[in-house]
Amino acid sequence: MTTTPEFPANFLWGAATSAYQIEGSPLADGAGPSIWHPFSHTPGHTRDGDTGDVACDHYRRYAQDVRLMRSLGLNAYRFSLSWSRVFPNGRGRLNAAGLAFYERLVDTLLAHDLQPFATLYHWDLPLALQERGGWLNRGTAGWFADYAQQMFKALGDRVLYWTTLNEPWVVVDAAYLHAAHPPALGDWRQAPWAAHHLLLAHGLAVQAGRAEGRQQIGIVINLEPQYPVSDSTADQEAAWRAHVYMNRFYLDALRLGRYPRALQSLFADAWPDFPEEDLRIISQPVDYLGINYYARSRVRHDPQAPLTQASRVIEPGRRYTDLDWEVYPQGLTETLCWVKRRYGEMPLYITENGAAFADPPVQGDRLDDPLRVAYLREHLRAAYAALEQGVDLRGYFVWSLLDNFEWAQGYSKRFGIVHVDYATQRRIPKASAQFYADVIRGRGGEALRDSG
Ligand code: FCB
Repeated sequence: MTTTPEFPANFLWGAATSAYQIEGSPLADGAGPSIWHPFSHTPGHTRDGDTGDVACDHYRRYAQDVRLMRSLGLNAYRFSLSWSRVFPNGRGRLNAAGLAFYERLVDTLLAHDLQPFATLYHWDLPLALQERGGWLNRGTAGWFADYAQQMFKALGDRVLYWTTLNEPWVVVDAAYLHAAHPPALGDWRQAPWAAHHLLLAHGLAVQAGRAEGRQQIGIVINLEPQYPVSDSTADQEAAWRAHVYMNRFYLDALRLGRYPRALQSLFADAWPDFPEEDLRIISQPVDYLGINYYARSRVRHDPQAPLTQASRVIEPGRRYTDLDWEVYPQGLTETLCWVKRRYGEMPLYITENGAAFADPPVQGDRLDDPLRVAYLREHLRAAYAALEQGVDLRGYFVWSLLDNFEWAQGYSKRFGIVHVDYATQRRIPKASAQFYADVIRGRGGEALRDSG
């Protein structure tokens, strides 16, 4: 890239988090437990037995965190609402004290000129609904829409941007194929119905949003280009299966109104005959797509791998983050251009992008994280390249504002541009936070010039 990137003046520059990963106090003020509560409290499920009980204590420190974002120059904040704070049983009685937390948060964001970008479901299903079958129960889709409608009513005058679901692929893959996330069922035969009900929940929530007059409703999908490790037919076919399963499953349904035919052969007799009417609900227009991008996968044929018979390979000589995700910035440009090509022109947001690295120790009030700075610089340049290629990219959200509870990995993986000292809850902006502030101030500019 020879030019100095100059992002549009109205570009959203944000950071992303999610409720269970940062809030702490999961049962405070009348909240009901989500599925993550008993899961993380069961030995063996999370690294070191970590739980979200305290996390970043954002539930009590949100005002300080909002001021911090403002001081870095961010103009948007992507967060999620905990369904079971607001509806302790997932349905029925609304818990006003839980809702009040999000009202305070939203009001504080607006007072600091930060655009709230609210996600309704970031993996924390109310436990009471799991006890009724969770995403295998069609009723959950309707209860989600009821909850969404109440949130549109309560916060729709202040929150412009709404996301129904975060990464339905992970919800299904991690719980129904690998038993790594709750409800940890680990049976791929259940995946199609769980996926379908999640998508139906999305569609019904969009309908509820329209009924309430909401005009910026979207969904967040995680995408990962799948490359075969060799040009053998077996590896190429494995990469193709992984691609259809991960990248096209949800987007084809949402944007084209049908599931990829290849899924039928993949799932064979476990693939149901879905009602046509559901696909019409699922594929009704949304206002934007949120894309989460971290890495690409290089895959090989692996008969042991469930469903896709494809496994991700780690290879010497490539760069990886602390989670063994490959640093592959051009994959972001590729992904955004692929979405535009396959699914048509529409506003896109990069709703998550970032990296876990084992950070060097804090020195006084500084923490130098050059690997994360390089990762962000390269990916922001890759985002700009997509803009130059005509992608209608409207914003970028770094994952994450704070180091936080990285699901089954607990607190062992740090993604924040702000360091959290979990013993004291002190926040220390890393060099990457300063770097991001420079990028925002210059709308790209010098901070994104080639680092050589
Ligand atoms: C995404 C999740 C987010 C976080 C990042 C690292 O899949 O949406 O909560 O865990 O990965």
